[in-house]
Amino acid sequence: MVTPEINTLADLPIPSLLVDDLVEQAQKAAAIQTTEYALGERAALTSQIKSLLQEQNAVLVAHYYTAPELQQLAEETGGLVADSLEMARFGNEHPATTLVVAGVRFMGETAKILNPEKRVLMPDAEATCSLDLECPVDIFSEFCDAHPDYTVVVYANTSAAVKARADWVVTSGIALPIVQHLAKQGKKILWAPDKHLGAYVQSVSGVQMLIWPGSCVVHEQFKADAMKALKGQHPHAAVLVHPESPAEVIEIADVVGSTTALIQAVTDLDAKEFIVATEPGIFYKMKQAAPDKVFLEAPTGGIGGSCESCIRCPWMAMNGLRNLARTLETGNDEITVEETIRKKALIPLQRMMDFAREYKISMKGKGTA
Ligand code: 13P
Ligand code: SF4
Repeated sequence: MVTPEINTLADLPIPSLLVDDLVEQAQKAAAIQTTEYALGERAALTSQIKSLLQEQNAVLVAHYYTAPELQQLAEETGGLVADSLEMARFGNEHPATTLVVAGVRFMGETAKILNPEKRVLMPDAEATCSLDLECPVDIFSEFCDAHPDYTVVVYANTSAAVKARADWVVTSGIALPIVQHLAKQGKKILWAPDKHLGAYVQSVSGVQMLIWPGSCVVHEQFKADAMKALKGQHPHAAVLVHPESPAEVIEIADVVGSTTALIQAVTDLDAKEFIVATEPGIFYKMKQAAPDKVFLEAPTGGIGGSCESCIRCPWMAMNGLRNLARTLETGNDEITVEETIRKKALIPLQRMMDFAREYKISMKGKGTA
């Protein structure tokens, strides 16, 4: 890893978007979904959703951070539980005419951009992401205009309008090889919106990048000192970190990677214990993959100082069985993307999908994937 010469735009004038207020709103909406089920309610909702999915030729695609009951339902109904890249690929290839995306809005929009002919529903279309909120398209466009000689690479966690302004879209699973590919062509990179992922990609690739100062409200919380102390108590535990985390947290990781890469690590590594610095919804799949292993939440305060409300993505938690049943019943919370924006956003998104396909093939050829 090279030491990066970080070119973060710390002073970029992002308006105060009151992300904290929106987090609070999301937590209130999520509380309705997570209120304990009345006797028989969960079974009734599950069976209702299964029938509606079938009747409507719909498939459920859920992110690893959603509630375990949604992940289980996606698995039981022929849908998928995955990271944001695989969600996009699956929705694109699946023959269902309705895609039900349990996750956050950019995932629903990505599905719509790639599949304009399909109906895309979400349990709650208001479920957003702090990275998306912190990258308003008007200011971002001005910034791109001011740097016309840079190739614009945006993280998938952005609005359709921001994607429409980009040359490339990437997810955490494919960001590094795409930036390395662009660097080989001598391109200079303007990166948005996650400053930690951007700094990580820059430090590994050595590529000079202009980095937008957005961050994830969840991953931003992990504390390196407390993680080191926890590691002191569990010296044989492996440390798994999502690259949206701060650099000092990434530094102590045994594995840094996308949600899929972190789940893969629990079976690839011999360790019996893991300290996991990402959203705890991921434990559902980790426990499924390695039922005998132990998973510890990375601390967000002192040791044992994690609080459920700061470690849970407030917007992922807005997805539940109750609003999933309602969206299938009413057709509300359908995702639409204005056609001019959709067509423009499709170009960098399709580039990523094509690159991902080629990359997977080339890595298989090397026997590494
Ligand atoms: P993945 O692309 O790894 O699924 O990450 C999406 C995300 O929002 C992480 O916070
Ligand atoms: Fe966005 Fe962070 Fe939630 Fe992922 S965990 S959706 S990056 S706010």
